Amino acid sequence: MHSDEAVFDRCSQHISNDNYSVIDQFLTSEEVSDILVGVENKYSQDKFKKAGVGQNDDYNNTSQVRGDLIYWIDSQKVFELKRRFLPYLNKFITHLNQKCFLSIKDYEMHYSVYPKGTYYKRHLDQFKKDDNRVLTFICYLNFDWRKGDGGDLRLYTNQKNTDAQYIDILPEAGRFVCFKSDVLEHEVLVTNKTRYSLTGWMLTRAMDS
Ligand code: OGA
Ligand code: NI
Repeated sequence: MHSDEAVFDRCSQHISNDNYSVIDQFLTSEEVSDILVGVENKYSQDKFKKAGVGQNDDYNNTSQVRGDLIYWIDSQKVFELKRRFLPYLNKFITHLNQKCFLSIKDYEMHYSVYPKGTYYKRHLDQFKKDDNRVLTFICYLNFDWRKGDGGDLRLYTNQKNTDAQYIDILPEAGRFVCFKSDVLEHEVLVTNKTRYSLTGWMLTRAMDS
């Protein structure tokens, strides 16, 4: 067993050195199952909306860039996250602020569903100059995901070089990926199965201030 602090330490060191970190079993299987029930309920109740791409919300154009559907999370209300995930995330943020000298004040997050055949082209998560997103984090919710299922997160780990500089990460249940939002370009490769995740951003300003 690794203590929370040991996990957070490893992660904050990776972020300081490489601008990203991947942690397996950040969420337990039980937790992923709980969260998936919540996601599937909301999805079946038609609460997910087609995602936009910031400046340019023209439907056809957007669909060529990204094909996911999203549900913005109100952390006061989404009970499947309250038991463990949110307290754990808050503890992690406190740690990051101390160890990486960040000043994260808030976060925003949504669930994502990528139906079969969809993807998200290469992009940065900061759309505007004044964007206050510091770190992107993604929790994957897919049990028994295989290489041939596609839907990898392709992270361009060295932005100075060309397309050869990337790593592909499978969206496996429990896996947590975190990276600097203004530095690392990334994309979601075409998925051959419905792909579920929770994506969020740690922010330097509180959203209601
Ligand atoms: C995003 C994104 C990656 C993923 O939502 O901005 O890049 O692996 N998601 O879901
Ligand atoms: Ni992104």
